[in-house]
Amino acid sequence: MTLPATPSAGSFEGGCAFADGQYVPLSEAKVSLFDWGFTRSDATYDVASTWHGAFFRLQDHLDRFFHSLQALRLRIPYSREELRQVLHGCVRAGGLQDAYVAMVCTRGVPPRGARDPRLAVNRFYAYAVPYVYIAPPEQQRAGIDLHISDRQRIAPESVDPRVKNYHWIDLVQSMFDAYELGRDTSCVVDAHGNVTEGPGFNVFMVKDGVVHTAERGVLEGVSRRTAIELCQCLGIPLRLGPVPAAALRGADEVFLTSTGGGVLPIAKVDGVPVRQFPGPLTQRLSDAYWAMHDEPAHRDPVDDTP
Ligand SMILES: Cc1ncc(COP(=O)(O)O)c(C=O)c1O
Repeated sequence: MTLPATPSAGSFEGGCAFADGQYVPLSEAKVSLFDWGFTRSDATYDVASTWHGAFFRLQDHLDRFFHSLQALRLRIPYSREELRQVLHGCVRAGGLQDAYVAMVCTRGVPPRGARDPRLAVNRFYAYAVPYVYIAPPEQQRAGIDLHISDRQRIAPESVDPRVKNYHWIDLVQSMFDAYELGRDTSCVVDAHGNVTEGPGFNVFMVKDGVVHTAERGVLEGVSRRTAIELCQCLGIPLRLGPVPAAALRGADEVFLTSTGGGVLPIAKVDGVPVRQFPGPLTQRLSDAYWAMHDEPAHRDPVDDTP
């Protein structure tokens, strides 16, 4: 499919969407009531970011998105390079420096009355809005209180968490539980009581100098991967494997990773202060995470010349 001309910089100041093959203001981007993406969560998506005018690890987000498409038998009418251009176009048109950039593919609308997903024409959407944090820096400094929910993440045998998906009812309900208890956010467990992930983030802990995070049953977050690579690079011992809820409660340091904020320190788990906040390894990884944004290998600058 041919791409429309990239809009001029700032022409949709504050945010821009791409829907049905056109760049449009955010308020004009619409999804059909009959799209299975809406009625059945039959969709995949990815969220990348720009920081100071450049995408961070965009190729990793594209790899993950194309893998998710393939896993769900979804197709978009764009090549990888065309998709990259669309995402650049949304950020450029939105006039954004620090942006949250989403790409979404839904199953689409099958003919009226049809129940065969093969008959639906898949739809593609993208948008760029100002950067969204899991918790903004002020809240991170004040101290995030993380609730470990008893709710189980939908089993990986049912919905592969490595395929980024909108099966969020477990996560969203755990957020309500957290708010009722006076906590700030939440994470959910697997069938064995091991911590998996939370609404938009992976969970890490540090115990006796070793960094731990779940190996399976979670989305392989691009920021999780960044934290793992940084541990390897900085010589910080790392163990990928089950993280029992009790271990997280007894950790020396706890942190989250997300495209929405990088490496975010946790001050309390279920109201009980974490031994070290912000922990020294958390701080080191967070500093290295942001420093990595300046490395040419991970930067893809958006052309914002008028
Ligand atoms: C369920 C879930 N886990 C983990 C993450 C973190 O992934 P990333 O580091 O790629 O933002 C996300 C991001 O949205 C998520 O939705």
